[in-house]
Amino acid sequence: MKFANRTDWALAPNQLSLILQELQSRGIPVLDLTISNPTVCGLGFPEDRIRAALRAAENGIYRPDPRGLLSAREAVCRYYANLGIAVTPQQIFLTSSTSEAYSFVFRLLADPGDRVLFPKPSYPLFDFLSGINDVDLGYYPLTYHDRWQIDFAQLAANYAPDAKALVVVNPNNPTGNYVYETELRQLNAFCKSCAIALISDEVFFDYPLTDQRAGVSLAGNEECLTFVLSGISKILAMPQMKLSWILVNGPQALVQEACAKLEVIADTYLSVGAPAQTALPQWFSLQSEIQSVILNRIRANFTRLREITAGSDIKLLNAQGGWYAVLRLPYGTDEEARVLKLLKEQRVFVHPGYFFEMDAFPAIVVSLLVPEKELDSGMRKLLVLI
Ligand SMILES: Cc1ncc(COP(=O)(O)O)c(C=O)c1O
Repeated sequence: MKFANRTDWALAPNQLSLILQELQSRGIPVLDLTISNPTVCGLGFPEDRIRAALRAAENGIYRPDPRGLLSAREAVCRYYANLGIAVTPQQIFLTSSTSEAYSFVFRLLADPGDRVLFPKPSYPLFDFLSGINDVDLGYYPLTYHDRWQIDFAQLAANYAPDAKALVVVNPNNPTGNYVYETELRQLNAFCKSCAIALISDEVFFDYPLTDQRAGVSLAGNEECLTFVLSGISKILAMPQMKLSWILVNGPQALVQEACAKLEVIADTYLSVGAPAQTALPQWFSLQSEIQSVILNRIRANFTRLREITAGSDIKLLNAQGGWYAVLRLPYGTDEEARVLKLLKEQRVFVHPGYFFEMDAFPAIVVSLLVPEKELDSGMRKLLVLI
């Protein structure tokens, strides 16, 4: 039996996972500084109220709508209204996850072999999302000069005419840079001139690391066809409830055509369950409570990382938002060897930079959701070793 070429993945676990599995199987505790599942980070969410919202009587009736229940889409509109952005329920498609939202948009925009441009460094799932959807993965670089930013010169130089869309992650995982207003102007000019769509993944948009958010949302962007993807896995820290959305913006005629076609894709799957949709308005009423717990954790951890690394050979790179921190190791360090040694000898697990296609310098990535004490103790062990 020959399976599809797109499934030719290297499935053997890497050395890091093998060591981790071995330690776990021997019951040896590991300080996991990569943990970013918000439901297991001891954040103390209002779980009773989260569960209570699932008991709506309407859940017994099936009312299929390719875009999702109107009451849920109206709740998403109110979320954007709170950000000062007016959108209508007609622009919104609910999906079961942000990853599924990517699939729908790729299916809409790209034929097999067409290219979608992703930021580099970025989130490893893109490799799989593009492959599973028969999309060719292209990269444009982010470079670091006091903050990460889009390298427009290289983007233009590496652009190939088979590109159909450009993805921004706003703020990016793991580099934490938002799309700045000046960058949005350049992105719009670029995408207009090449007639390609913009896709903005804004799952971390509500998590700025300072009170003043550095970037802008692409919701409401009128300049070119723009798909904003977001969802409650991060915004409400409920990845287990499986509810995300696509917001379609841009020139009216293009939006209408895109929505008509997306409707067929969404209607084919009708993938979002009724309970999550009926619960969404109530869950949004918990937004500020949930987000403030997370903001406290990620900001305290970011400040702590700065204090712990001050005066050491490790540099905490500036970030403006999101749930991750990038720590640059001294030039010439063998990043993978250090990460393996840290796990084997100190029982501390961090992600190596190459995991995120970060190849300009050696680095490690840690999650800012890790309970403060664990981050502190893991970082101290790391500093001894580097
Ligand atoms: C930037 C980014 N986008 C999307 C996702 C996937 O989100 P979901 O769980 O809603 O599919 C993740 C998951 O970590 C992410 O980091």
